[in-house]
Amino acid sequence: MRTKTIAGNWKMFKNFQQTEDLINGLKKALDFTDKSVKVIVCPPFTSLALAGSLLKETPVALGAQNMYFEDEGAFTGEISPGMLKSVGCEYVILGHSERRLYFHETNESVNTKAKKALASGLIPIVCVGETLEEREKNITDLIVSTQVRGCLKEISAADVERIIIAYEPVWAIGTGKTATPQQAEEVHLLIRKLVGQLYSWATAEKVVIQYGGSVKPENAKELLSQPNIDGALVGGACLKADSFASIIKSATA
Ligand code: 13P
Repeated sequence: MRTKTIAGNWKMFKNFQQTEDLINGLKKALDFTDKSVKVIVCPPFTSLALAGSLLKETPVALGAQNMYFEDEGAFTGEISPGMLKSVGCEYVILGHSERRLYFHETNESVNTKAKKALASGLIPIVCVGETLEEREKNITDLIVSTQVRGCLKEISAADVERIIIAYEPVWAIGTGKTATPQQAEEVHLLIRKLVGQLYSWATAEKVVIQYGGSVKPENAKELLSQPNIDGALVGGACLKADSFASIIKSATA
């Protein structure tokens, strides 16, 4: 049984004070007695330590939005897996489409980072997804399969079972255009089948596959009720405690 997993990607929002307000808001809004949904928050680097300490006595897990693949060294501006772990991170988002678009991340760099994250005890949330142009050219399957193959290269079955894959169609991110539950389910099933081919069906059945792209309280329930949608990676709607809490509630059975 896969645990429904809802992660909030804060992107480049929330300074120190705003982080305190949002985390305190979440602590009020969330029902911590309900253990059926795994909740992860991914604030920017500057807010990780604060968020980690405010969430200490709660089941909410902490994730980062990126990391570098070396332990330490002269890499100005970069953050290592060990640094993330030292402030309480358990997860790290890798290969988000914004990082691919603006910061030249590739399937190869995501794969290197994913291997390093796993070796360091962090769980990668590996993002894949096609652009509008690619969807219109009917090459969604090819694009997503190539991304999944590239990002998982040389990762063992035992490690893949711990990974989260986030399917985020680029055209649905921040646009208000959500993939229909059927469109999303179709790609989620494709990803699961591919993992099944690359590893085994037993492994594929364990991998949590999240959907991301304009997830809101109004559309979360239907998306999350699809058999292969195991959670959501939420952007805009995670920046307010009430709407994030409402999406989390939609994931409860
Ligand atoms: P939005 O929910 O704002 O569309 O962002 C999705 C996303 O990119 C999460 O990583």
